Amino acid sequence: MSKKTKYLVTSALPYANGPIHLGHLAGAYLPGDIFVRYCRLKKRDVIYMCGTDEHGVPITITAEKQGKTPQEVVDYYYQDIKESFEKFGMSFDNFSRTSRKIHHETAQDFFLTLYNKGYMEKKSIQQFYCEHDRMFLADRYIEGTCPYCGAEGARGDQCENCGKWLEPTQLINPKCKICGNTPVIKETFHYFFKLSQFQSRLEEWINSKKHWRENVVNFCKNWFKEGLEDRAVTRDLTWGVPVPLEDAKDKVLYVWFEAPIGYISATKEWAQQIGQPERWKDYWLDTENTKLIHFIGKDNIVFHALIFPAMLMGYEGYVLPDNVPANEFLNLEGNKLSTSRNYAVWLRDYLQKFDPDSLRYCLAINMPETRDADFSWREFQARHNNELADILGNFVNRTLTFVHKYFDGKVPPRGPLNELDQELIARMKTAGQEVGEALDRFQFKEATRRFMDLARFANKYFNDSEPWKTRKTDPERCGTTLNLCVQATYNLAVLMEPFLPFTAAKVWKMLNLPGTVQDAHWDRIGELPIADQHPLGTVEILFRKIEDAAIEAEIARLKQALEGEPQPEPEASTETDDSAMITIEEFQKVQLKSGRVVAAEPVPKSDRLLKLQVDLGRETRQLVAGIAQHYQPEELIGKTVIVVANLKPAKIRGVESQGMLLAVKDGDRLSLLTTDRPVSPGKPVS
Ligand code: MF3
Ligand code: ZN
Repeated sequence: MSKKTKYLVTSALPYANGPIHLGHLAGAYLPGDIFVRYCRLKKRDVIYMCGTDEHGVPITITAEKQGKTPQEVVDYYYQDIKESFEKFGMSFDNFSRTSRKIHHETAQDFFLTLYNKGYMEKKSIQQFYCEHDRMFLADRYIEGTCPYCGAEGARGDQCENCGKWLEPTQLINPKCKICGNTPVIKETFHYFFKLSQFQSRLEEWINSKKHWRENVVNFCKNWFKEGLEDRAVTRDLTWGVPVPLEDAKDKVLYVWFEAPIGYISATKEWAQQIGQPERWKDYWLDTENTKLIHFIGKDNIVFHALIFPAMLMGYEGYVLPDNVPANEFLNLEGNKLSTSRNYAVWLRDYLQKFDPDSLRYCLAINMPETRDADFSWREFQARHNNELADILGNFVNRTLTFVHKYFDGKVPPRGPLNELDQELIARMKTAGQEVGEALDRFQFKEATRRFMDLARFANKYFNDSEPWKTRKTDPERCGTTLNLCVQATYNLAVLMEPFLPFTAAKVWKMLNLPGTVQDAHWDRIGELPIADQHPLGTVEILFRKIEDAAIEAEIARLKQALEGEPQPEPEASTETDDSAMITIEEFQKVQLKSGRVVAAEPVPKSDRLLKLQVDLGRETRQLVAGIAQHYQPEELIGKTVIVVANLKPAKIRGVESQGMLLAVKDGDRLSLLTTDRPVSPGKPVS
């Protein structure tokens, strides 16, 4: 095996039970694709694997709702998702499915190997059983009231409201999701993966990951603090990968046990497709040289950073993730996305009206890397019109049009360079380096910004050089300016390829260059490879302005979806309460949580405000608080505070604040609320 670093990149396998929306793209897909395209331009050895996750309760519930078989559901959504991804420019080397034979075999081999190595334990357990539907109610088949936060509709595996992972038997007032009846408790058995045995190895491994995102590391540390528990990895269901043991042949593997193995099966399938069936081993089994990178959304962290790695450790011989760059969530027009209320932007709808590259740009420059981000249609329009069209598109267009008009479509030669020319060349070089470095750190926002900065500078270079004047006063100078503008267009084409692959291909064609932009080498960005007298191709407009009407229609649709939301029933109160009194339900609307201050700094140009980063257990929030006259930033670090966790984010002096701290003011003295005894971050206050 070669000593060269190999990149094995994956994006989370989407459930084949619904179409793709913007939240998915911003979380796990766009960043993976940008990174992989960049690696390819660096001429790295890279493969990119994905596919649909076709088992599990989400699929069978959708099938029941739609009156279809699970097979019909997954067949439909596999096609739908695959097509949307292709149109969006996702460049997977293989987009597989977990229903394929190769995956069933690979998953069963994993189970058996872990079983034979003693990592599986058979245990009898009490489980909910619906006598009406005659089945055990696994995971999401059961709903009830969350024992931690009191939210209704918590699922058997997790409460979406407070994020806590649950055992179904912890639910208060459990109900069968299919028929609504109260289930009975019945005995069954399951195989448990001995995750607890991996705690120290996992801890040591995570601690060695100095370059991982803070949100991911903190998340894992919280799990370690609570202690890793063995997990049932079989289910009493009929849809899924059958358990390869005689005594459990009517059971299937838990979807979260087998789905990540899908990354391996997809690679095996790819190796077969390229006619080198053993090639997958060069990636998965070369622990020395492979960098395995999982792009996921934050709700998938535990599986990719703890459970799957433990499975790989237990199996032995497999590479472990080099990084798990998990993104936070994307909100929509200031509200949480909700697929059940159709409060979402679906990729296939988007693609019927707008270009993929505009969305790629807008999501990349606003990616929810370290905290939740918001997608707004107005911002989308502004970025498309003011940046893509007015800066990038305008620069390319005016350059190529000028050469066509005044130089007969042939690139004029370069004469002596002036200072501004040299600055443009230097900026092209640094842009290549800086964008590359940012991408290697998974800092997509920064990378996108720096790419656009180069286009901005090039556009300014055109303006400041005034070729429309020098054309008459100093034709040689004019030729030099245009020569460099064409070279900059070439360099921008390479630089933009990971972000705007469709536009990059168009520019390549307009430049009339051989092959494709993907043949270019990233490390050559900044060179001036276009020869004198090179004939250009035909010019076309890259970005047409998006009109207000198009955007307003989208905003109106979302607004409607929001208003269509089931309104909470007004409480029919018989008491003649004092109007200042509130009910316990009203109080419970305010989510108070314990938080730990992990960073604090003054807000520039304000003597009253501090900007804090507060660990809330599963996430870190940025809060802006008016406490600078009462606390030094340093003395806050490590303090436990009480945070209003469900306050709508607001901008204070241009800095986003995602919640509020509780404090008491007594005269001139302000004191923060804290707890009487040490508590972990993220605990509900009630
Ligand atoms: N289907 C899961 C989701 O959409 C992700 C599965 S990722 C895998 O949340 F690793 F398990 F495949
Ligand atoms: Zn039932």
